[in-house]
Amino acid sequence: MKHIVSGIKPSGDLNLGTYLGAIKNFVSLQERFSEHHFFLFIADLHAITVAQDPQKLRQATKNLAALYLACGLQEERLSLFVQSEVAAHTQMNYYLQCFAYMGELERMTQFKDKAQKQETGVSSALFTYPVLMAGDILLYDAEYVPVGDDQKQHLELTRDLATRMNNRFGELFVVPKPLIPKVGARIMGLQNPTKKMSKSDTNVKDIIYLLDPPNIIEKRIKSAVTDSEGTVRFDPQNKPGISNLLTIYAALESLSIEDTQARFESTSYADFKQAVADKIIEHLKPIQARYHELIGSSTLDDILNRGRDDASKIANKKAQTLAKRLGLGRNIKPSR
Ligand code: AMP
Ligand code: TRP
Repeated sequence: MKHIVSGIKPSGDLNLGTYLGAIKNFVSLQERFSEHHFFLFIADLHAITVAQDPQKLRQATKNLAALYLACGLQEERLSLFVQSEVAAHTQMNYYLQCFAYMGELERMTQFKDKAQKQETGVSSALFTYPVLMAGDILLYDAEYVPVGDDQKQHLELTRDLATRMNNRFGELFVVPKPLIPKVGARIMGLQNPTKKMSKSDTNVKDIIYLLDPPNIIEKRIKSAVTDSEGTVRFDPQNKPGISNLLTIYAALESLSIEDTQARFESTSYADFKQAVADKIIEHLKPIQARYHELIGSSTLDDILNRGRDDASKIANKKAQTLAKRLGLGRNIKPSR
């Protein structure tokens, strides 16, 4: 069976950017790729590359698991798990670090951005973060990896590493392909529409969280930055605010940008904003209801236990095959 793999960090609460760039895409891909099995995980090992409060991290891990499911993923053909509970991820990270070059990691724009923001105490794990991510993907022989635009460069590195290892050690890994949504791969901040909507953003006015109540959603959209032209038109260069709202609406409705623009061509900014707010509220309502059901139930742990066991079987086997090819350990026959 072919595999699709992706992960999301449990750092901060889930926002509309992560939903439209990643989760909503997982849901539609599950329908589109009806023959594939999905390995989706909560990337807690990635989260600790920057400082985390342990209690908050554990809570965020559980919340994210519930939200993944609340967004409509089907439990068949899905293994949902917590990354740190499958030890092979940590193991693979080390093996692959022996083959990744400093030069290629130094070129990663996300590392440069994050390191710049954090004046002191940049961890070495933040630097090798893309290697951990490559391991996450290669462990499962993923054919496709659905991600937002900001992960494209990490996927390129994963492909380079897979090819390098295959050339040196014989066919070991499937070389994965990124799947980036046409609309919604980069949702921007509401107040700063030239910066992506980010979990680590300190300005909450930039963000819509998936669990925000309707009145907050309405308030945030109504105060989103626009421009003085007065025409609802897609032009990210000159009209980043309006273009971002058009993208949000289009992604929620699974419409093209052109069709969305045509729908609002002669609408005032105030009415357009109201329509965007209403659409978000309507879309999030069933997700929020299902989330509240799941978060207090034991179903969630059952699903995560099963996901951990499914994932471990495949991942352990892959890590062992690699260790063998690398000449690690003794070549002992399995005991009877
Ligand atoms: P993260 O929350 O950083 O672990 O990201 C999880 C997934 O959401 C990745 O595939 C990102 O590319 C995607 N993502 C994060 N922020 C945004 C955004 N503002 N717009 C679109 N996709 C995003
Ligand atoms: N690095 C990704 C992000 O920040 C999350 C992630 C970790 C991931 N491992 C992955 C995504 C493997 C896809 C596949 O968004």
